[in-house]
Amino acid sequence: MSDSIFSVPRGTNDVLPSEAPLWQFVEQKARAILASYNYKEIRTPFFEEIDLFARSMGQTSDVVQKQMLTLNSQKQNTGKDKEESVELALRPEGTASVVRSYINNRFDKIEGLSKLFYIGPMFRGERPQKGRLRQFHQIGAEAIGPGPDEALLPYLDAEMIALSTHILKALGLNQFILKINTLGSLESKAKLYEYLKGQLTAHITALCPDCQNRFHKNVFRILDCKNRECKAVTSKIGLEGRAWLDEASAAYYKKVKSLLTDMNVAFVEDTHLVRGLDYYMHTVFEISGASLGSQDALGAGGRYNKLVTDLGGPQVSAIGFALGIERILLAAADTLKPEASVLDVFVIVLDEAAFAAGFNLATQLRNHGIRADINFKIASMKSQMRSADKSNAVYAAILGADELKAGTITLKNLKTGNQVSLPISDEKAIKEAILTRTD
Ligand code: HAM
Repeated sequence: MSDSIFSVPRGTNDVLPSEAPLWQFVEQKARAILASYNYKEIRTPFFEEIDLFARSMGQTSDVVQKQMLTLNSQKQNTGKDKEESVELALRPEGTASVVRSYINNRFDKIEGLSKLFYIGPMFRGERPQKGRLRQFHQIGAEAIGPGPDEALLPYLDAEMIALSTHILKALGLNQFILKINTLGSLESKAKLYEYLKGQLTAHITALCPDCQNRFHKNVFRILDCKNRECKAVTSKIGLEGRAWLDEASAAYYKKVKSLLTDMNVAFVEDTHLVRGLDYYMHTVFEISGASLGSQDALGAGGRYNKLVTDLGGPQVSAIGFALGIERILLAAADTLKPEASVLDVFVIVLDEAAFAAGFNLATQLRNHGIRADINFKIASMKSQMRSADKSNAVYAAILGADELKAGTITLKNLKTGNQVSLPISDEKAIKEAILTRTD
């Protein structure tokens, strides 16, 4: 190929017309299920001030440290006739943006619990591999608000987890494992932090250089490390007893588990699941798919009450998750078979004299809600029929010299071969014949 041909940027994909129906199917299914749990769509910008992500996901998270895709700094009006340069970054996830918008728009004054969802691209400057992209897409849901009674929060956690698995099941995915854990209250989480530090102190030198750094900056991330040596060290840390968990947090977690069982949501407990982003507390969960290789997380989420106040907002509860669409498509490649898009009718004209009438017919039929197309090329009947077949049309509306003279069209069902003759000016009769499939 010539040097002058551009390639798709590394770590990104074109979604081609042959693949787009699959994406639409996934998105429509997700939308329908999210609506059935009363989630409303929110669309935030694809970029934000970089500090928003640093403050929410954590300065020391891999995403913030290594994966931010930044934009040239832009002047932004700060009010008071002052302009300041701000650093912007493409959003690596949706939660921070949704919380920013929640705060900006004073959602807490409007409703007790805001159930919000988003579907769209996220950007992380990761080393691309199967299932790991630089532009990927998430289906995310966040439930934020001052409304819920403290005692009922476990129900919301269970509903949120059930919602994430409901979407996967509706997409034909059954071979996934839902892992859950609790970090407990902020006090419990702080105790767990100290406990982990204590347990790891003697093993620092056995850890990878990244984890040696993490030991000083954020010890939780060591549990997320995929490095074999680090895993060997962390797998020996006993976390089962959860001695660091306070009583109320333990009761909270117990309730979430019993609700999931009641709701028939299968789960396994993973005491080592802590999640790589700073904002979590209490319930955390991750869903891993079979046959996905090293990038096997289909989705993940958890509770993050403190993030809203950390970003300058009101004291509210918050929980959410995000599923990765590309990974869902990889995992469901064999089961997802959305119907190919169908054209109702393909108009066939055999000479230039008939083209204007055929073009007009297609226009009129579209105005009646019929999906119609026409070949912008005069060609033989055989070649036109091939185009009609390729377009997946149910009918061909043939307009040859005879039909033009008689003021009719021949409507041919391309599946059965049956055909009828109808007046070209009677779009209603043509529409009727197409929609009721009388032939
Ligand atoms: P996360 O675990 O960073 O969480 O990402 C959620 C999902 O996005 C992953 O499980 C995976 O399916 C997909 N994903 C992440 N990075 C990539 C990538 N580079 N390529 C392909 N897919 C990827 C979050 O983003 C949190 N905001 C989830 C959340 C919402 N927590 C509370 N609310």
